[in-house]
Parts: sequence; structure tokens; C-alpha cells
Amino acid sequence: MKPSVEVLPDKAALIERSLVVVVERLESAIAARGQCTIALSGGGTPRPLYEALAQQPLPWDKVHVFWGDERYVPADHPDSNEGMARQAWLDHVPLPPENIHPMPTDEADPAVAAAKHAAQLQDFFGTAPGEFPQFDVILLGIGDDGHTASLFPHTQALQVCDRLVTVGNKDGQPRITFTVPLLNCARSVVFMVAGASKQAALDHIFAPTDDDNLYPARLVRPQQECLWLLDSAAGAKLSHEVA
Ligand code: 6PG
Repeated sequence: MKPSVEVLPDKAALIERSLVVVVERLESAIAARGQCTIALSGGGTPRPLYEALAQQPLPWDKVHVFWGDERYVPADHPDSNEGMARQAWLDHVPLPPENIHPMPTDEADPAVAAAKHAAQLQDFFGTAPGEFPQFDVILLGIGDDGHTASLFPHTQALQVCDRLVTVGNKDGQPRITFTVPLLNCARSVVFMVAGASKQAALDHIFAPTDDDNLYPARLVRPQQECLWLLDSAAGAKLSHEVA
């Protein structure tokens, strides 16, 4: 399905719009299937969204929270995506602890942690080996370099298409990340992109042809919804129609 792009006047409007979009999709998933699954992105952009979600009257026992990627640090480390989401949101709502599914980062070998989390996902979704589960919502951001999740330019992780979870590599630092095919199975992928520093990457990402290995967010082409929410600083000068 062709991605859709919304350019919002500023970051506050981007956060407000992402809140409406996410709540709508979680509520419709609960209505349809009795529960919903959301995979969170890290970094700085989504934090205000997580703080806003903490104020929503959602049926928290029906919400399951995952992460699309994680830095290879303990949850109490300042770089932890899990820690950020817990501080901004999850510690402030009555979400049953068993509904929170963090990526393990306590194995000596990150590849073991990635395989462990893939097995946890398979177990939760009841999928067979080789089958990719459908998350209701996967939130993503992009770096100035065009990475998304922990799929960094010219890394091995970009080529992994037979597993749900793999090891990412940022400047030699290990990450755990959903793979491209898992991202592309989502019912709804929502990119949240703010700031002028993202303009150049967005131009390459939306160009009809460009280097997918150099701009990994180009690889995210879900069969279902792909919604790009940009603030005007990031998206006002987009020179391409969305590819
Ligand atoms: C991470 C993220 C990463 C993030 C981008 C954008 O673990 O850092 O998942 O993919 O979304 O780097 O980060 P900002 O929102 O801070 O610009």
C-alpha cells in the first residue's frame, strides 16, 4: 500500500496527531480482536507521545507493549528505550506487568538475546517458525542518516529476512531490532519525524529510486498502512511526491 504523509505545523501538533492515530488503531484492534499489540520506537521524538498516552483511558489489560528495537543496555540505563517508555508512560498506567514485553539485553551474546526475543514473540502470537506475526501498530522514527529501528546503513541486519529479530549495529555498539519483514507485516506502521535535521534523509527515503542500503527506512514498505507524520521543519521542503 502507498504510504501516506501528513505534515503538521510543529512538533506539538505532530504529537497530538500521533496520539489520535495510535489511540484509534489500538481501540479498533481491541474491538476486533479483544486485545492490541504496539511496538515502540526509542530516541527522543516519541517521548511526549508516551507521556500523553499515560493520560488516556484505555483498557490497559487489553494492551500489549513491545519495542521495535533496543539498545544493548539494562532497562535502568539512561539509553534504554524500555526505561524511557516506562518512565514516560508504562509506570503511570495500570498495565499488567505480563503485558510488557521488553527485548532481553542480559545475554552475553546479543544474538542469543535476539533469538530469545524472537521465540517470545512466536510464543505470544502463536506463529510457526518462519511465520511473521502482525503487530497492530509499530511506531518508528528515522535518524538523520535514514536508519529506522536499529537498522543502520550498510549493516548485516538489513539483509536478515528469515528471522523476526536480529542484532543491529550502531558504530560497533550492538542493538536488538525487528527485521524488515517483521516491520512490513504490521497492520499499521506510523513514522514520527521531527526537525530540520531529518530533511535530507526524508528526501532520499521518498525518492522514487535511491540506495535502500544507505537509507534503510526505504525498506519499510508495509503491505498495509504506512503513515508518515512529519512536523513542518522535517517535511515542508519534501521535493518528491511520496514514492
Ligand atoms: C532508537 C530508535 C531510533 C530512533 C531514531 C530517531 O533506538 O534510537 O528506535 O530508530 O527512532 O534514531 O531518534 P530521535 O527521535 O531521537 O530523532
